[in-house]
Amino acid sequence: MSPKRRILVTSALPYANGPIHLGHTLEAVQTDIWVRFHKLRGHECLYVCADDTHGTPIMLKAQADGLSPERLIAQVHVEHARDLADMLIGLDNFGSTHDAENGAICARMYRGLDAAGYIVKRTIRQAYDLKANMFLPDRYVKGTCPNCGAPDQYGDSCEVCGATYSPVDLKNPVSAISGTAPVERDSEHYFFRLSAFEDRLKSWIKSGAVQQSVAHKLDEWFSQGLKDWDISRDAPYFGFEIPGAPGKYFYVWFDAPIGYLASFAQLCARTALRFEDFFAADSSVELHHFIGKDILYFHALFWPAVLEGAGMRRPTGVHAHGFLTINGQKMSKSRGTFITTRRYLESFPPEYLRYYYAAKLGPGIDDLDLNLEEFATRLNSDIVGKLVNIASRCAGFIGKTAGGRLADALPEPELFAAFAAAAGTIAAAYEGRDYAAAVREIMALADRANQYIDQRKPWLLAKQAERASEVQGVCTQGLNLFRTLMIYLKPVLPAMAAKAEHFFQEPDWTWEHAAAPRLGAPIRPYEPLALRLDPAAVARLVEPAAAAAPAAPANSATPAAAAPVSIDEFMRIDLRIAKILAAEFVEGADKLLKLRVDVGDLGERDVFAGIRAAYTPADLVGRLTVVVANLAARKMRFGVSQGMVLAAGPGGRDVFLLSPDAGAAPGMRVK
Ligand code: MSP
Ligand code: ZN
Repeated sequence: MSPKRRILVTSALPYANGPIHLGHTLEAVQTDIWVRFHKLRGHECLYVCADDTHGTPIMLKAQADGLSPERLIAQVHVEHARDLADMLIGLDNFGSTHDAENGAICARMYRGLDAAGYIVKRTIRQAYDLKANMFLPDRYVKGTCPNCGAPDQYGDSCEVCGATYSPVDLKNPVSAISGTAPVERDSEHYFFRLSAFEDRLKSWIKSGAVQQSVAHKLDEWFSQGLKDWDISRDAPYFGFEIPGAPGKYFYVWFDAPIGYLASFAQLCARTALRFEDFFAADSSVELHHFIGKDILYFHALFWPAVLEGAGMRRPTGVHAHGFLTINGQKMSKSRGTFITTRRYLESFPPEYLRYYYAAKLGPGIDDLDLNLEEFATRLNSDIVGKLVNIASRCAGFIGKTAGGRLADALPEPELFAAFAAAAGTIAAAYEGRDYAAAVREIMALADRANQYIDQRKPWLLAKQAERASEVQGVCTQGLNLFRTLMIYLKPVLPAMAAKAEHFFQEPDWTWEHAAAPRLGAPIRPYEPLALRLDPAAVARLVEPAAAAAPAAPANSATPAAAAPVSIDEFMRIDLRIAKILAAEFVEGADKLLKLRVDVGDLGERDVFAGIRAAYTPADLVGRLTVVVANLAARKMRFGVSQGMVLAAGPGGRDVFLLSPDAGAAPGMRVK
């Protein structure tokens, strides 16, 4: 066993304007397996991540939802943290790029870069929206491609001919925010001198910090020449103001990777870890970033250069993975192949997906397909049919004929030794992120264990009372083979491994436990470790696109139910208990009441409800009701409505507010 290593690991920070989906989860699972493997091996391995909260899209989404960006990112943070935890992602800290620690580290690093001469100011000309009073990011300008004339193209590139250009080159440009034609305006921007780092980056890449295929890609970028990087944005922008530059903000991609450091600083603050040990220029701690191949430029060029320029250490490894496709297709909402992690978790255990990803993840940047049919087949055959089958065929006999005790010796120690001897190759596969190879090896051993049990047939031996000790021996052998495999799989299947530890009455397996059998010890009664997957239920993860739903008949006499919504669409609706704090008539509106409601941790807000004919304001104050808390705010003639109150009935006087039990409290989710 190698000496104890100190390792800090990250996965990329998910954007705070959408839910965690199965693509993010692929990355989190890949990272988590690597982290758990190193912990199992006795190394000190820490894993941090955070939400990526800054930038124009998040600012605009908050506006559209009628929330402050702070509130939006706080809500999303709760959901992201819960989704990752439920996928058994063992994060040591999950922060936010908006946290104060990040602001402080960004400012410090920026000052270091500036003092070292790596920041330059330059005036650039940019599209400006006179109506929205803001500069427009490239993606927010649309127009006709200057190269091929295709209409409705983004300001940075044409999806038809592939040309790249600047938004000012577009013909008939329009702002995607206000719909008006943008003008051009000058603004002073701050650039990071990436070009000064070319040689240092090349030597860093030679150190083996990136995969081979990635190194080739980087060579291409080097031969195109490194351009200096614009790290500033003008107000209004949701982010951190640049020190000494009022009205200028750090571009989201400047402060996002620094979010790794800030999240780690939060961990340091509540433990004995010292930030300096990990990030000083001469640190010997390992630093590994797991990312998708789409964000390589940021992690393999900008990021090591920024760290170096600020006088800090560089990453030990940047490990890129490919993209997840579903049934061979890109994840897409319109095709119904966009699957949120929450949606998956509502129906299936986290470890099934963890196992499937592990079984298909190699060390390269190939895309990985989640084929739902194969997913069900693979789980049923590998986990239920092979792995768990070993234990379930042996455990009962130890209970029935051996008083719940494992035998004192193995009948076939060589077979066990062969399982133990596989530790080296399996460990090397995990270390090299070739989880597919590790799983292949483990499953080949599971086949051998099953063959052993098939040959010995304990269920026949058990019929002859005089062969009880032989039964105990065979089952002790089988259970020990199973135990070794579960130890090898502990990084992939942590919850199942915990159940198996409980079964064997061993508190905390490390990798070394696989080397020696468990003998002469009591075991607990066996409880099923995994259930079969129903392929039909798995197939339902991809609902046919909403357009395929039967339309309600236009003129039918019986009222038709509304077109079906998918469970996913339904789950996006945040239903909450709200307490009505105040209610008032709205001048000039004879159907409306204006309600002030308290939605617990989501705060207070105003909601307009068309229930004036049914209730007088005095009837309502103090009542609990159900509101749609995440309905996009609507500007009405009388003010902005930030939600909707749910009520039943045909209308007019016959409108009934739901009145939940007294045990309900404002802010509670309605399920
Ligand atoms: N916020 C940036 C990362 C900042 S890191 C300092 C970002 N966010 S993201 O939400 O778009 O993606 C987060 C990670 O998930 C990225 O590594 C990205 O490659 C990965 N994936 C997003 N969709 C994916 C798939 N469909 N498949 C696999 N990984 C994908 O980029
Ligand atoms: Zn074009």
